[in-house]
Amino acid sequence: MPSEPEHDEILGRAYDQRLVRRLWAATRSQRGLILASAVLFPFIAGVELVQPYLIKIAIDNHILKADWPGLSRIALLFLLTLAALYGLRAVQSYVTHVTGQRVMHDLRRMLFEHLQGLDARFFDRNAVGRLMTRVLYDVEAVSEMFSSGLVAILGDVVTLAGVIVIMLGMNWRLALVTFSVVPVLFAVAAYFRISARDAYRVVRTRLARLNAFLQESLQGMVVTQAFAREAQEFGKFQELNADHRRALFRSTIYDASLYASVEAIGSAAVALLLWYGGGQIWRGMLTFGGLVAFIEYTNRFFLPIRDLGAKYAVMQAAMASSERIFGLLDVEPAIRNPGAGRMPRRPDGAPPRAAVEFRDVWFAYADEDWVLRDCSFTVASGERVALVGATGAGKTTIARLLNRFYDVAKGQVLVEGVDVREWDLKALRRHVGLVQQDTVLFTGTIEANLRLGLDGEAARADIERAAEMANARRFIEALPRGWAQEISERGANLSQGQRQLLAIARALVYNPAVLVLDEATSSVDPESEALIQEAMGRLMAGRTSLVVAHRLSTIQGADRILVVHRGRIREDGRHGALLQRGGLYARLYELQFGARSA
Ligand SMILES: Nc1ncnc2c1ncn2[C@@H]1O[C@H](COP(=O)(O)OP(=O)(O)OP(=O)(O)O)[C@@H](O)[C@H]1O
Ligand SMILES: [Mg+2]
Repeated sequence: MPSEPEHDEILGRAYDQRLVRRLWAATRSQRGLILASAVLFPFIAGVELVQPYLIKIAIDNHILKADWPGLSRIALLFLLTLAALYGLRAVQSYVTHVTGQRVMHDLRRMLFEHLQGLDARFFDRNAVGRLMTRVLYDVEAVSEMFSSGLVAILGDVVTLAGVIVIMLGMNWRLALVTFSVVPVLFAVAAYFRISARDAYRVVRTRLARLNAFLQESLQGMVVTQAFAREAQEFGKFQELNADHRRALFRSTIYDASLYASVEAIGSAAVALLLWYGGGQIWRGMLTFGGLVAFIEYTNRFFLPIRDLGAKYAVMQAAMASSERIFGLLDVEPAIRNPGAGRMPRRPDGAPPRAAVEFRDVWFAYADEDWVLRDCSFTVASGERVALVGATGAGKTTIARLLNRFYDVAKGQVLVEGVDVREWDLKALRRHVGLVQQDTVLFTGTIEANLRLGLDGEAARADIERAAEMANARRFIEALPRGWAQEISERGANLSQGQRQLLAIARALVYNPAVLVLDEATSSVDPESEALIQEAMGRLMAGRTSLVVAHRLSTIQGADRILVVHRGRIREDGRHGALLQRGGLYARLYELQFGARSA
């Protein structure tokens, strides 16, 4: 996915009416908090604006007139405003951060819930890393808008407007002196802001590359070591790491320059004020306290302007991120439940001809690259059928269609005589138990992994029965902590055979009427193999089963064998009969299992 991170870093407008409206709707439950923080800002601005005025009064009316009691009163008042200001700031900071965190929590919940409803095809097309970025980084960028973006900008605007009005009211000539540096300020700020933004975009792109590299590299560490490629991998990592550092350094320079130049321009404005205001004092047009207050107001004028740039960046990032978040939330699941709790009902009430039927099924993962073409077969109730075929023939695909991970392009997949598209999804997936080719285990205890299928409602006895049937019980109970043994990520602390036994047990907890077993291709040791075979024989007995067979013993235990070739069922019959025919099956059998005599 080399081009994707770049695409993700396109920043656009800092304010988009449509997106803000959707965000407003999405954060409905936090509205009270958002409004509370919006209410706090004008108060803070008000207190900030009063302070310089108090200084002016202190100097002009009390210090210069040696009025000690009056000065004490003003000092006390000033202290009170300070206390009020810090109190208000603390509350505001608390409220905005809580808002941001709640928004983050809500959005993550919404995204995860939505992702859970999406289908296999969606996950085929979207890299895990990108989806993680949506749920982690993008959500954080949006929440930042709530903790230090939108509302804070409103506060800044109120402060700025207040400062301008007060300065003009106090002494418009002096006010114009301060404002004279504003165009320079805007020009400098705009220049550095744009450069900083571009630099930041590069930082993010490089970080995304570093991330992608790291993810792949850590996952494949053992392979890297096996091929003694550590030095090359380290070189690549170093390069990406250094790239990122350089970009970060450049972005820091712009940020620092921005701050420094705003400070410098602010100081220049103060110097101008001293020079011009000093002259006004001599001519009696300005009081000494007035000049000091003006300098204070000037500082309060520059601060929000300096921070506006940073807040603008926060808004831009939030807009870009919310665009992507909503883009993801807008993805419609391709597989929809036809109606909760809907169970298949055959109109005539007659028992179905077949437990499983593929009727002229055409299927492609992408466009018209047909993986299954006109594929038809049936499995009768209680029948044990083995599915064989060369690698890539479409066996796993058939298993997936039975669980409706994907929908067919043409034709029908029927379970108990009813199209899978009419089944309630949950009911279908309980009815057809699937053991997948590559076992996926989750971190957690053995028991939790087996309980997975039944929303925690399975009794311990069901789990033990399933493990017993799957021949997994003996090894589970031999583990140091037994059923409570923690499985590490990807089941790394279990052997391949143990993982398969667990997967089989997991499918059996449901006691499904139809069992679809996609045998793992990897070979296991003879003892595990024997255990698995024995377990499979037991669980297939009296149950409709479709087993994608890679093992000789599985094939021989089947009632019937279907041969898949290029997405079609090409041969169908018993082992002996098919061998006699000398067709595809005979050839496959010989290639895969050696001598024909077996
Ligand atoms: N998720 C997917 N997205 C796109 N193409 C896929 C996907 N899964 C499988 N394919 C393609 O579909 C074809 C059939 O794959 P399938 O996994 O069904 O083969 P198989 O018969 O199970 O093979 P094996 O014996 O190796 O398990 C292959 O050409 C494969 O490249
Ligand atoms: Mg397969």
